[in-house]
Amino acid sequence: METSDSRASGDPLVVLTDVQKHYGDFQALKDINLTVHRGEVVVVIGPSGSGKSTLCRTINRLETISSGSITVDGRELPKEGKPLAELRADVGMVFQSFNLFAHLTILENITLGPMKVRGKKKADAEREAHELLERVGVDAQANKLPAQLSGGQQQRVAIARALAMRPKLMLFDEPTSALDPEMINEVLDVMVGLARDGMTMIVVTHEMGFARKAADRVVFMADGLIVEEQQPEGFFTSPRSERAKDFLSKLITH
Ligand SMILES: Nc1ncnc2c1ncn2[C@@H]1O[C@H](COP(=O)(O)OP(=O)(O)OP(=O)(O)O)[C@@H](O)[C@H]1O
Ligand SMILES: [Mg+2]
Repeated sequence: METSDSRASGDPLVVLTDVQKHYGDFQALKDINLTVHRGEVVVVIGPSGSGKSTLCRTINRLETISSGSITVDGRELPKEGKPLAELRADVGMVFQSFNLFAHLTILENITLGPMKVRGKKKADAEREAHELLERVGVDAQANKLPAQLSGGQQQRVAIARALAMRPKLMLFDEPTSALDPEMINEVLDVMVGLARDGMTMIVVTHEMGFARKAADRVVFMADGLIVEEQQPEGFFTSPRSERAKDFLSKLITH
């Protein structure tokens, strides 16, 4: 692996050490060593099948790892029960498909977690939900069902829902790749705002504009390995590895 130029200065929030992940005989993550500092924004980029989603999913234990260790805020990931539910609240995740609860209103989608996992009173949870919906620009939709919103609006609700748990870290797995082009920016703008507010973020995306604006570091993966890490400008203008050069040349000509 080639060395990183990270300019992050916070203390380590997420530490992956020698992480291996197998699906049967297939190894999806190989020797992953990655430290994400508090307040740092890391963009993960790489070809399809390189292990980007698997990496995200191991960090909030949607997937178990075969060996190695992962700590969040100094603690090994809990295996089950209430501690695991708390970890999932501490590590917010936003997927490509918005995964809102279809039968609940937008407001109920936001308040459910804080009431169930964080023990918030309904009135407090609703007040905070409105503040968050305001922040992501969809408070006018609070009483609608998810299906009544555009994709971009639903994704912004999904972000607000994760934020309602007051996470220490946010994981985004290709949050804009299912959106129509005109809705991509409204979601990216919310994410840039979050980054500016100091949220620690791991973002799987091929949106170079976002990476350039908001990322402290780009991590390039191929075949389950971290092949290269650099600051975004350096990565996009002069990638060091042949794999990254090849990947970027294809990305740009699309
Ligand atoms: N549940 C699973 N069982 C078996 N193999 C899996 C499973 N999930 C992922 N894989 C394999 O692990 C590898 C990495 O998958 P992953 O979804 O992490 O890739 P990715 O980088 O996110 O790709 P994409 O850009 O297409 O989303 C792939 O080869 C995939 O087929
Ligand atoms: Mg993926």
